[in-house]
Amino acid sequence: MTDNKIAVVTGASSGIGEASARALAAAGYTLYLGARRLDRLAVVAAAIGGHAIALDVTDAASVQSFAAALPEKIHLLVNNAGGALGLASIVDFDEQQWLHMYQSNVLGLARMTRALYPRLQASKDGHLISIGSLAGFETYAGGGGYAAAKHAARAVTETARLEWLGQQLRVTSIDPGMVETEFSVVRFGGDTERASRVYAGMRPLHAQDIADAVVWAATRPAHVNVDQIVIRPTDQARADKVFRRSGAG
Ligand SMILES: NC(=O)c1ccc[n+]([C@@H]2O[C@H](COP(=O)([O-])OP(=O)(O)OC[C@H]3O[C@@H](n4cnc5c(N)ncnc54)[C@H](OP(=O)(O)O)[C@@H]3O)[C@@H](O)[C@H]2O)c1
Repeated sequence: MTDNKIAVVTGASSGIGEASARALAAAGYTLYLGARRLDRLAVVAAAIGGHAIALDVTDAASVQSFAAALPEKIHLLVNNAGGALGLASIVDFDEQQWLHMYQSNVLGLARMTRALYPRLQASKDGHLISIGSLAGFETYAGGGGYAAAKHAARAVTETARLEWLGQQLRVTSIDPGMVETEFSVVRFGGDTERASRVYAGMRPLHAQDIADAVVWAATRPAHVNVDQIVIRPTDQARADKVFRRSGAG
């Protein structure tokens, strides 16, 4: 039963977070959504009868004020906010980009988890779902900074499962391969043409494919912990091994 259950989704203004928020609402959850672009977040919240609250997971004060606006009991936290910046090699990396990826993907996830832990506990049936990545256990040329951050994010998520043993708190990592969202547009600083080349000639996942997994993991019975779900497009065998139909750019 998901009626009267409360879910929080970070990074719900686009992509996987938005699709997950919509799918969780359809499954009966009441949604609290966080992201920096409040205008877009408000549109999503209005469509599902949820709540939009400004959130920057890289800013501890923002995380605190976001948490303070939430109900006392939270059943589900979807740590989704994050992404990649650049595709520079190890010998040419940009420190600011790497710091930002660590801030959003790792510290942001940890800050949100710490801030909402008392509310997850208070529900007596709390669940943390982290949106990781294939880059959490594989890497690829140019992906060093993002893969390092997602490897670290996976370590944080797995540590929570160990530390919370016996507390009726479930912990899941959902690790997608290539999903066509705004991810690559953000990665390449708004260069939509370069972003579209990432998916040329192959069939990527859709945000809805990941949202399906979020809802499935969340709606298992309370004694069932889904540890990890890895989802790749059929056209992707490894982070750096993609099948492209001939004629594609
Ligand atoms: N797309 C893929 O191929 C793929 C594959 C594996 C894993 N992932 C992971 O999936 C998650 C969602 O990515 P996506 O593909 O849906 O990309 P997206 O469309 O770019 O969405 C990213 C979301 O994160 C939010 N966000 C980014 N930085 C934030 C911050 N500092 N504070 C709060 N919110 C922040 C963005 O909202 P605002 O900009 O409004 O803040 C946006 O809602 C990310 O963690 C990403 O690493 C993506």
